[in-house]
Amino acid sequence: MKQVSYGTTAKPNNRARYAKHIIAVTSGKGGVGKSTVSVNLSIALAQLGHRVGLLDADVYGPDTPRMLQIENERVQWSDHNQMIPSENFGIKIMSVGLTTPTPDTPLVWRSSVAVSALMQFLEETAWGELDFLVIDMPPGTGDIQLTMAEELPITAAIIVTTPQQISLDDVSRAIMMLKETGIRIGGLVENMSYFIAPDTGAEYAIFGEGGGKYTATKYNIPLLGKVPLTMGIRKGSDRGRPSVALGSEDEKNYFRDIAKSLLVEIGID
Ligand SMILES: Nc1ncnc2c1ncn2[C@@H]1O[C@H](COP(=O)(O)OP(=O)(O)OP(=O)(O)O)[C@@H](O)[C@H]1O
Ligand SMILES: [Mg+2]
Repeated sequence: MKQVSYGTTAKPNNRARYAKHIIAVTSGKGGVGKSTVSVNLSIALAQLGHRVGLLDADVYGPDTPRMLQIENERVQWSDHNQMIPSENFGIKIMSVGLTTPTPDTPLVWRSSVAVSALMQFLEETAWGELDFLVIDMPPGTGDIQLTMAEELPITAAIIVTTPQQISLDDVSRAIMMLKETGIRIGGLVENMSYFIAPDTGAEYAIFGEGGGKYTATKYNIPLLGKVPLTMGIRKGSDRGRPSVALGSEDEKNYFRDIAKSLLVEIGID
């Protein structure tokens, strides 16, 4: 018997034929480190020799331009009427934050407008050929996430969470949404796993322990890596000095290891 399916993404469109692989960085909850992971993962993939574009899909809180020190750049148009992405640290970046009159101009958009702006970024940006298009998703499980799932053949989603129970509850919702829409989950990143005191180097489990591993086991998804809460990573984001490029050796390795685990997970060396 024929079945009616609602919102299926079994055969999504492909609005990004220029990208070999599409990685969506998502979470259930806001503020857990999606943008930090997106930025550093993109750069780590570029450091490994891949051609990488980063699409900031968080139209209401576009944080990636500041994290990449391009917040004062404005988008330029090519002769072919395409938007030219900004470039820094070896990656190409497109964000709504590069299109507003000033970096802090708020966008008061209905979600349908936000979605069509993102479609324009996908289709009318001069990305060139990409090995990876990394998408920094807004928090939650709403319209933008659903549209991306329908319009792009996402290779894998990465879920960012903190070890805290309340964050893990939200992450379960995000996992269920991804499973329902048929998107492969590439793995979980536990961010802010523990705090490293800058003066003593002592480690404190501020948000609790073992949450990422528990969720990874419960849903049978790989734990790609853990990133501690450090002063260096926070300062690096605020100052547009991404940790994987300009941080301490340890900080570089947290993100490089995540990139390498992801490549193994999706079968690329
Ligand atoms: N491991 C870390 N160590 C120190 N600071 C961190 C770490 N991860 C993220 N931060 C800081 O926490 C804040 C939130 O991180 P980020 O913006 O990446 O989260 P997000 O999930 O993208 O948030 P939003 O839901 O608002 O988009 C930022 O100020 C960032 O610099
Ligand atoms: Mg963000």
